[in-house]
Amino acid sequence: MPKTDSEISYIRESSKILSLIFTELERIASAGISTLEIDKYANFLCRKYKVKPAFKGYKGYRHTICANVNDIIVHGVPNNRKLKNGDIIGLDMGVIYQGYYSDMSKTIYIGDVTEEVKRFVEKTYQSMMNGITILKPGIRVGDISYAMRDGLYDDKFILMEDFVGHGIGKSLHERPNIPGHGLNKGMGDEIKENMVLAIESISVMADTNEYFIESDQWTVRTKSGALSALFEHTVLVTKDGYEILTLS
Ligand code: CO
Repeated sequence: MPKTDSEISYIRESSKILSLIFTELERIASAGISTLEIDKYANFLCRKYKVKPAFKGYKGYRHTICANVNDIIVHGVPNNRKLKNGDIIGLDMGVIYQGYYSDMSKTIYIGDVTEEVKRFVEKTYQSMMNGITILKPGIRVGDISYAMRDGLYDDKFILMEDFVGHGIGKSLHERPNIPGHGLNKGMGDEIKENMVLAIESISVMADTNEYFIESDQWTVRTKSGALSALFEHTVLVTKDGYEILTLS
C-alpha cells in the first residue's frame, strides 16, 4: 500500500539510521570476530541510535542480525564461529524507528576472496540494482523480478524463489512479495507511487537453488554447499522513479 508523507518521513529516518549502523558493522566484520560478537555490537548500535532491532522477537527470532556466512542463504543465526580469511558474509538487519521499519542486507568479503567469487557477489549486487532502477509507478512486480534475473544473468548463478523482497513500513513484511525467481514480466501487483519496498536479490553460485533448513529452524543453507550472496535496500517509489532510502 502507498504510504503517506508523514509515514515516509519516519521510514526515511529509520532507513538512514540503518545504513549508518551498517557502515559501523562493516568496519568490524573481519577475520577473527564471531558472528555473535557482530550481533552484540549491532544490538549496542541500536541503543546508540535509539532504534529497535526489527528481527528480534519476530516469529521467535532471538538476534539482531542474520549472519549468512558462505553457503548460508538467509536467516543465519549468529554463533561463536570466528570469521576467517576468504569467507563471504551476508549481513542482514532491520530496525524500527518510531514504529516504522527498514530492512537492508549486504554481502561483504572477509580478506581475500577469489575473482570468481567476487564476480558472483558483484552480479548479485547488480541484480538488486537492476530491480531498483526499473522502479516507477505502473510497472508490475513481475517486471522487478525479471529485471533482477536479467541483472544476475549467468548460467551458473540463480536467484531464490522462496525467499523474497517485500513491502515494508508499519511492519517488516507487507504486500507485495517480490520474488527473484518464478514470476514473469507483466505479472503480479501493480507498483504505485509512494509504495516502500525492500528489494532483495538472494542468489546461489550454482545452477540450482535447492536448500535446506537447519535443526535450529532458522538457518537456510544451499543443498549443494555452493556459496550464496544477498543484497537488499529499502526503496521508495516516487512519481517518476525511485529513491533508495537505506543510504547515508
Ligand atoms: Co527483507
